[in-house]
Amino acid sequence: MRSQDWFGRTGKDGFIYRAWMKNQGFPHHEFEGKPVIGICNTWSELTPCNAHFRELAEAVKRGVWEAGGFPLEFPVMSLGECQIKPTAMLFRNLASMDVEESIRGNSLDAVILMCGCDKTTPSLVMGACSVDLPTMVISGGPMLAGRFRGRKIGTSDVWRFAEAYKMGEMSQADFIAAEASMARSPGHCAVMGTASTMAAMVESLGLALPDNATIPAADSRRKVLAHMTGVRAVELARQNIKPSDILTRQAFENAIMVNAALGGSTNFIIHLMAIAGRVGVDLSLDDFDTLSAKIPLLANLQPSGEHFVEDLFYAGGLPAIIRELRSFLHNDAMTINGNSLGENCAEAQCYDPAVIASVEHPFKPESGVAVLRGNLCPNGAVLKPSAASPHLMQHTGRAVVFEDIDDYKARVDDPNLDVDPDCVLVLKNVGPRGYPGMPEVGNMQLPAKILALGVHDMVRISDGRMSGTGFGTVVLHVSPEAAVGGNLALVQNGDLITLDVPNRSLHLHVSDQELAGRLVHFKPLDLGYHRGYVNLYVRHVTQAHEGADLDFLRGGSGSVVKRDSH
Ligand code: FES
Ligand code: MG
Repeated sequence: MRSQDWFGRTGKDGFIYRAWMKNQGFPHHEFEGKPVIGICNTWSELTPCNAHFRELAEAVKRGVWEAGGFPLEFPVMSLGECQIKPTAMLFRNLASMDVEESIRGNSLDAVILMCGCDKTTPSLVMGACSVDLPTMVISGGPMLAGRFRGRKIGTSDVWRFAEAYKMGEMSQADFIAAEASMARSPGHCAVMGTASTMAAMVESLGLALPDNATIPAADSRRKVLAHMTGVRAVELARQNIKPSDILTRQAFENAIMVNAALGGSTNFIIHLMAIAGRVGVDLSLDDFDTLSAKIPLLANLQPSGEHFVEDLFYAGGLPAIIRELRSFLHNDAMTINGNSLGENCAEAQCYDPAVIASVEHPFKPESGVAVLRGNLCPNGAVLKPSAASPHLMQHTGRAVVFEDIDDYKARVDDPNLDVDPDCVLVLKNVGPRGYPGMPEVGNMQLPAKILALGVHDMVRISDGRMSGTGFGTVVLHVSPEAAVGGNLALVQNGDLITLDVPNRSLHLHVSDQELAGRLVHFKPLDLGYHRGYVNLYVRHVTQAHEGADLDFLRGGSGSVVKRDSH
């Protein structure tokens, strides 16, 4: 066991590595060759989606003890999507560095990653992949669906409530009643937003036990799954099965196809690209389009449909989706419990066809993401067809340009804004470098005068992201971003833009010559971040189509540390 390089030493080093640990009351035999299982916990009261993780960690530990392992829990940076400014995404890579060094530098033989709220999954998986010790994920599970005045609600209703409030249809008191009704149980967002997308990603990649994606946080079976994850991690340490054994190109392809059938978040693309970069699997933006092209939308879940992740669990969970997709997937891809993905799901059944449709009669024919190209996004941009409006999928309109988020906020509701429903809203400087941190503002709320017409969707284009709970005809992740001088930076009010989703194109009707002339006047942003992490981030972050990781974090450094601490 790797941990014996700490605890198995004789002389001074062994004394130091063991003695202080014994102040926690561990008997000496715990240090004599048991697999040491690190429990990497993102518990935080500032990450409410993960606030139940102390209790969940106890269930993990029970499993580790039962299987003859030695559990040691440790905290890492936790990112609360709704709390941390300017955006949790800015700190995903920082958290991954914390995770990576915490795992590598300590006496661990395997690690269990406790993930929940959006960024807490990719940051932990990215960090663990760069170490490549045996690794499993246990997710915290979704919230129960909210209940508000006779109907079920979830995060996607936030956008609807916000529009109603803006139009004076909902009072501040209604708002406060709604927010208390929505987040009424432990867990992460109850819809197929980014957190559940990430939980499904780790399950379909093979890094988590079956049903990890959907058991509600409040369901006692979540603790059973945590317990069984602890049991399995001890075996995993003994068998030395590492992420690099699981995360093959086939595993990534499976994850992309399962995500398509689920109608998962567009953030999936950025996080999966970053993980692929850590394990050295060659993945491109086009793989997401090509692989999801043949996959129909099976899950009728918000924001693409009606139901909640809780309902998906009752309907058979992710295994039922995976089994339904068996003619598309690499069923022999190995997973963390020693079985193949196909074996894990062979007995799965659908108990509710209203929630999980069949391949023959899908919920919607189009799923996944459309990857767009054109002079506005030479390195790609993405759109989620299942969450968009069919009548806008081929659309030409004149640009209404906002130079940055402050400009947007200042002018969007101005009654004199020159905008009509056929216009294309363009938001610049919300990319990785431009904001910085690529926030979830791409599904920008429509101007008040447009909402007043009863119009709820317009074509919107930005270099930012959108919440996994968001929807609309929203073009995201434009690369290169405005802040590095991409053509997005050169769009002016009144320019014509054509979105053509069936032909995967996004075109700015401005000549190359004219664009070259405008580029002469382009000035890079100086946001005044001259020190600290944000300065490091801005100098090293890659573009959206590469996963927005820091360039020097790609790949891994393994688990070997040559020097001792004394
Ligand atoms: Fe944490 Fe949605 S805010 S998962
Ligand atoms: Mg989010």
